[in-house]
Amino acid sequence: AVRLRVREALGAREPADAVRVQGWVRSVRSQKEVLFLHINDGSSLESLQVVADPSLEKRDLTFGSAVEVQGKLVKSPHRMQNMELQAETIRVVGPCDIWSFPLKAKERHPLEYLRQFPHLRCRNNTLGALLRIRSEATAGIHSFFQDNGYVHIHTPIITSNDCEGAGELFQVEVSWAKESAEKTHFFNVPAFLTVSGQLHLEVMAGAFTHVFTFGPTFRAENSQSRRHLAEFYMVEAELSFTERLQDIMQVMEDLFKTVTSTVLSKCPQDVALFRKYIAPAQKVMHVTGKNCNPVILSSSSCRISYSEAVEILKQAPQTFTFKPEWGCDLQTEHEKYLVKHCGEVPVFVVNYPYDLKPFYMRDNEDGPQHTVAAVDLLVPGVGELCGGSLREERLPFLESRLQRLGLTDAYQWYLDLRKFGSVPHGGFGMGFERYLQYILGVDNIKDVIPFPRFSHSCLL
Ligand code: 4AD
Ligand code: MG
Repeated sequence: AVRLRVREALGAREPADAVRVQGWVRSVRSQKEVLFLHINDGSSLESLQVVADPSLEKRDLTFGSAVEVQGKLVKSPHRMQNMELQAETIRVVGPCDIWSFPLKAKERHPLEYLRQFPHLRCRNNTLGALLRIRSEATAGIHSFFQDNGYVHIHTPIITSNDCEGAGELFQVEVSWAKESAEKTHFFNVPAFLTVSGQLHLEVMAGAFTHVFTFGPTFRAENSQSRRHLAEFYMVEAELSFTERLQDIMQVMEDLFKTVTSTVLSKCPQDVALFRKYIAPAQKVMHVTGKNCNPVILSSSSCRISYSEAVEILKQAPQTFTFKPEWGCDLQTEHEKYLVKHCGEVPVFVVNYPYDLKPFYMRDNEDGPQHTVAAVDLLVPGVGELCGGSLREERLPFLESRLQRLGLTDAYQWYLDLRKFGSVPHGGFGMGFERYLQYILGVDNIKDVIPFPRFSHSCLL
């Protein structure tokens, strides 16, 4: 018998005599004359209908059990499906105790409920759909950059730099380190889990004009938030010979559009499930997938400067918990208001105060250390999706800034990059989980990762 994935069986054009399908039972319906099963193996949202003689029913053939079915693949008489499997043999490979199994047949489990079972929730339709989308989006991101001539760089995960300077670092120590005072660091210097691969990408952008990385990043941030994770994936790109913030914004937009249309065309049913059950009431759909013909990031995306943003906030008819003031960071409530003010469209905010942003951002020279060439992309429902900037490529500017921060020694290598063939350059990072939240309308970021780590004291 030929082994087929459920997806292949469902999509088969011709009937086939001897096929074998393996998977987990999603439903068992036993009638007098016929036994119906639905088998899912994760290859598609849709399960394969198996039609069998009632004599093949056994006690341990239950919802959740793992089975192998052999038989004939035939055209289904039902309108809703193409093919079905007429079983000749059904073998229960792994039984499932339905009484203690937390997933129940025919129940629509809320995402909060599923989060309690990080080791089992991938067997649920919503999480299955999410994980397939996540996989296609990952491939789509790699293709986007590869197709546009970017070189992929594996930037280090353990590093000694604090790229963002925000101090949200996890420190790396050996488990056998003695607590004694004379104990030196494993690497001789303090080492951390990376918060961003940007500085390493900048190194590479000194040899390859277009580079990207897409890997795990770590930040010691509030784990209760619906948009923050301690461990998340970030897509980062760096472009040399780039003098305009507009060019960086264009890449953000192209990346978003290309990857989203890839997802829509590769996983139409999975995306439809989110549309239908998870974000049905989402008012703003920049990604509308009628017959998978996406109209994405409508041209109506809006661009304002940070100073304009603060003015808009100051004139807002509502009061904020954090009073908007030039020089202060935009809070979630501010981001929300700005997005609403612009008509619930993605908003690019550019040119932030110099003192608000990390040392690497390029001085706009619009006043003494007034603003830097930074850009954040804010999107409805999620807030900040991307953050990027032009980098300070001028040695004297960078030297004096690092000096004021007392970082000159630590960043000698970074200063070197400005001595040996420095070019104007810039780049950005996009939070992968926030991207998924946005396109799928998922409220809690823990529901777009494979394992909801660090929730419910679960380190899995
Ligand atoms: O704005 P951020 O901090 O930018 C950087 O790290 C730059 N060095 C990137 C670059 O220019 N190469 O982070 C980029 C994005 C944010 O816009 C947000 O989407 C996401 O990463 N992000 C998080 N996502 C989930 N959980 C967290 N704790 C996140 N922190 C940032
Ligand atoms: Mg940011």
